[in-house]
Parts: sequence; structure tokens; C-alpha cells
Amino acid sequence: MDPKLRRMASSFVALLLLLEQGMFSSFPPPSGPLDRVFQYIDLHQDEFVQTLKEWVAVESDSVQPVPRFRQELFRMMAMAADKLQRLGAGVDSVDLGSQQLPDGQSLPIPPVILAQLGNDPKKTTVCFYGHLDVQSAQQDDGWLTDPYTLTEVDGKLYGRGATDNKGPVLAWINAVSTFRALEQDLPVNIKFILEGMEEAGSVALEELIRKEKDRFFSSVDYLVISDNLWLSRKKPALTYGTRGNSYFMVEVKCRDQDLHSGTFGGILNEPMADLVALLGSLVDSSGHILIPGIYDQVAPITEEEKKMYEAIDLDLEQYQNSSQVEKFLFDTKEEILMHLWRYPSLSIHGIEGAFDEPGIKTVIPGRVTGKFSIRLVPHMNMSVVEKQVKQHLEDVFSKRNSSNQMAISMVVGVQPWIANINDTQYLAAKRAIRTVFGTEPDMIQDGSSIPIAKIFQDIIQKSVMMLPLGAVDDGEHSQNEKINRWNYIEGSKLFAAFFLEMAKLH
Ligand SMILES: *[C@@H]1O[C@H](CO)[C@@H](O)[C@H](O)[C@H]1NC(C)=O
Ligand SMILES: *[C@@H]1O[C@H](CO)[C@@H](O)[C@H](O)[C@H]1NC(C)=O
Ligand SMILES: *[C@@H]1O[C@H](CO)[C@@H](O)[C@H](O)[C@H]1NC(C)=O
Ligand SMILES: *[C@@H]1O[C@H](CO)[C@@H](O)[C@H](O)[C@H]1NC(C)=O
Repeated sequence: MDPKLRRMASSFVALLLLLEQGMFSSFPPPSGPLDRVFQYIDLHQDEFVQTLKEWVAVESDSVQPVPRFRQELFRMMAMAADKLQRLGAGVDSVDLGSQQLPDGQSLPIPPVILAQLGNDPKKTTVCFYGHLDVQSAQQDDGWLTDPYTLTEVDGKLYGRGATDNKGPVLAWINAVSTFRALEQDLPVNIKFILEGMEEAGSVALEELIRKEKDRFFSSVDYLVISDNLWLSRKKPALTYGTRGNSYFMVEVKCRDQDLHSGTFGGILNEPMADLVALLGSLVDSSGHILIPGIYDQVAPITEEEKKMYEAIDLDLEQYQNSSQVEKFLFDTKEEILMHLWRYPSLSIHGIEGAFDEPGIKTVIPGRVTGKFSIRLVPHMNMSVVEKQVKQHLEDVFSKRNSSNQMAISMVVGVQPWIANINDTQYLAAKRAIRTVFGTEPDMIQDGSSIPIAKIFQDIIQKSVMMLPLGAVDDGEHSQNEKINRWNYIEGSKLFAAFFLEMAKLH
């Protein structure tokens, strides 16, 4: 096709997509360098989708520890390294040795890519974190298309890793490559840290970050992660916090062997009765945690925060419908989101050693372990929480005068992460979102624990931002994972606009 015609056709398609997504608004068309950048991205969108297709075709499953998938992971990392090299980046594929599995098997860990484009001391340096491994997927799990063949249906690009996280990583690369192709100076120095073990717990990554703190990361000013989702199908979001988690085990023991209720029932303190009382003392039916002092360090709510919650786009009815929960503890959008993001919550997960099979068995379990965890928020201190939990359970237990033994341990601790939304990169991202999407972003947090942001914040001690591209219904980790073509392409523009805004604000 005549290039001019093709350009027109492509702009028309882009306009249709905008209309379809309900994003038709009166925001002014971009001018200056961004104009050419956006046109280039629109014109080359099929190429960008083709590259995503090639990346999705690599079965880079890090969850199943088998040699075949490890080979695929190595191939994936090599493809990414090659792509970055061809863009002119300096690329270092850092060998992380091997991983010892519980069954004695040893598997090589895919390398982490550290890459750099531009080294101008006058420019700010932004480092992008992403991962190229995926969760397991098989068509018979309930996929409508082959998970490793990127398939477009109604503007949705289905494939494992499309949104988590290959699409967003490529969107960042697309933005960089557009500046290169147009021979426009990159507005910022760019660094990449790409790993291949995120879905398996980022094996060996923290150690590497510590080692590179004064080398690779010494020149980094800002860190960007794009590995979560919007809260909405249409409205972009910026993420500024994640909850932490502290996980507890409480064991109550009479003896190692189980007992029979006909022989012993009535003459001893039963471990299950003690444990049920302990677990029952943790949280009331309104979701309020009953451990004394637990709320003391929770940051008070500010007026600014309240306004941010009011502005968030959440269809409560749809949210409730898709959750298939009859009724939540709270009725308003604000209360629900605050209790997911900025208040602690306590969940009881299970009891090990209890009789949990169908049918009848008159057993008295001799030793049982209750498992529960607390989602932590700023400014809760994990070691203080640990003390409060232990003190509370000891008090409850001692009031029962039980002859059993109780032991409490905190087995996992992840700190909460919160960013300063007034940091330069948040302001730049907001401006870029306004330019590309013509709207203010939802300012959101995540109720889950995503350790990487906190790790970067603590070790590198630079501002960390999560700038997601995917829509709420992308189905990360689930069957029929997808990224919308629109999100992928506009996301590439968003990153390009972000580079320019960072340079302006610097
Ligand atoms: C929620 O489900 C009800 C009952 O199935 C339905 O009538 C309603 O339209 C749904 N609302 C949304 C927003 O999906
Ligand atoms: C948490 O509390 C402990 C004990 O009170 C204190 O030593 C520690 O510095 C605190 N940690 C943080 C991160 O505030
Ligand atoms: C536990 O023992 C104390 C002191 O002997 C007694 O006052 C109390 O009532 C007992 N509590 C229970 C629950 O048996
Ligand atoms: C951000 O800046 C605004 C305006 O200067 C100020 O009102 C607000 O308190 C700041 N927020 C934070 C979280 O620092």
C-alpha cells in the first residue's frame, strides 16, 4: 500500500479503536516531537503485535521446574538481550548460577538482563523492571485458544504472558525503539532490569540488586515497574502502595499421637478446643482485628487521600457480581477500597493436623497448627506486630488454664510499600496519562504484597513507581489471559510521553 494511504488507514483504525473504547474526548492532539512519535507507533502497531506474538510463543514457564521450560527461559532471555542490543543498548546477561530443588535436582537459573541506553550525565536515568517468565498454561486448563499462540479476537490479544508481563516490557521497548527509529534523541537515560524467575519468587534477585547497588544502580534516579493492572477496564491508573504481610503459625499440642474421644473425651484439654478459641479471638464479625494495639501505628487518613478515593472509577455492582460474594462488610466504594488497601486485615487460612476429610471419625487430634496472616499497611512495624500477636495469644491461652503447650511463630514477613505521590515521576506519569488518554489516572494501591517495589525502595533508596498498562479484566495468572491491542499500543505511547515529561520536569 502507498505509505500515505497506509498511514491514513492506520490512523482511521486508531480512531475507531478510540471510539470503541469510549475514549473519544476533546483532549488536544499532541504536537511537537510527540506527534511524530505517536504517528510512528500507530503506523507500526502490527509490527509491535508481531514481536509480542514471537515472545508469547516462547514457553518461558518458571513455575514448573523442568529442564524443557528452563531451556525456554534461557531462550527468552537471549531473545530479549538480542532485541536490546539491536537497539544499541549495552547488555549484560548476569549468570545467577543454579537452584537446588527439594528433590535434590539442580536447575540453572536464567540470567538477569541489566541493560543501558544512554549515559548522558545531564539527563535523568529511569530504570525499568520487568519479567519475561510466565505462569503455567495448557489449552486443556480451559483456554479457548492455544496459550502460546498470541491470537487476536475483537481487539483482545490472548496468550500467556500477554499482560503479565511480556506486553508491558515490550511496550517500554517499543517506546525506546520509536525514538531510535525517528532518530530523535532519547529524553532520558534508560536502564533495564529484566528477570526470568518472578513467578517462582524472584530467585536470587534481591542478592543481585544488593550486589549491583553501587554499580549498575548507582546512576539510577527512578525505578518503574509495570506489572499490575488498572482498577477499571478503561481508565488508567497509577499505583503508589502495596500491603505487606506477616504470616503466623500457632501450634497447640497435647501429645504427638491422636486420641480417641470414647477413651479420652471429657478428661483432658483438647488441642482443637484451645486452638479454635485462639483463632476465634483474633478478629470480630465486622472484620475488626482484636489484637490490642494493632491499629496504633496505622497512618491516619488525610483529606487528600479521601479525595483520591472518591475520584476512583469502580463499578461496585459489577465488582460485587464478578466476585460472586453475596454481601461485603462495607457498602461504599471508599470503605471497600480503604479496607483492601490502607487498613490491615486478618485472615485465617487453615488448621494442620485437624480431621478434614468427609465422613465421621471420633478422633481428638493430638497436635494442631492454626495458620493466619495479617496484611500490613504503613506505618505498621513487623517486629512490633509480631510481639503484639504473641502477647495476645499468650494472654488468651493462659486464661484457659490449659495443660497443653502452645508455640507461636511468624514464618513470613513482607513490609508494606508506599510511594510519595508528589515525586517527580508520579507527576510526569500523570501528565503523560493526560496526554495519551485525556483523563486523570485512578490513584490506586494493591491489597496484595508485591515485594519487588519495597526491595528496590529499601536497597536502591530511590523513588519507585508502578505504572500499569493492563485492564482489570486481563486475567493475569488465569485462563485466557489477554492484553487489549489498544492498551498495548497506547501503553507504548504512554511510556514515550513519560520519557519526555521526565526530561521536562528534571
Ligand atoms: C449484576 O447481577 C445482576 C443479577 O444477575 C444483574 O441484574 C445486573 O445487571 C448485574 N450488574 C452488573 C453491573 O453487571
Ligand atoms: C520497629 O520496631 C523495633 C522495636 O520497637 C525497632 O527497633 C525498629 O527500628 C522498628 N523498625 C522500623 C522499620 O521502624
Ligand atoms: C483458671 O485458673 C484461675 C486460678 O486458679 C481461676 O481463677 C480461673 O477461673 C480459671 N479459668 C478457667 C477458664 O478455668
Ligand atoms: C503533595 O503536594 C500537595 C501540594 O503541594 C500537598 O498538598 C500534599 O500534602 C502533598 N502530598 C503528599 C503525600 O506529600
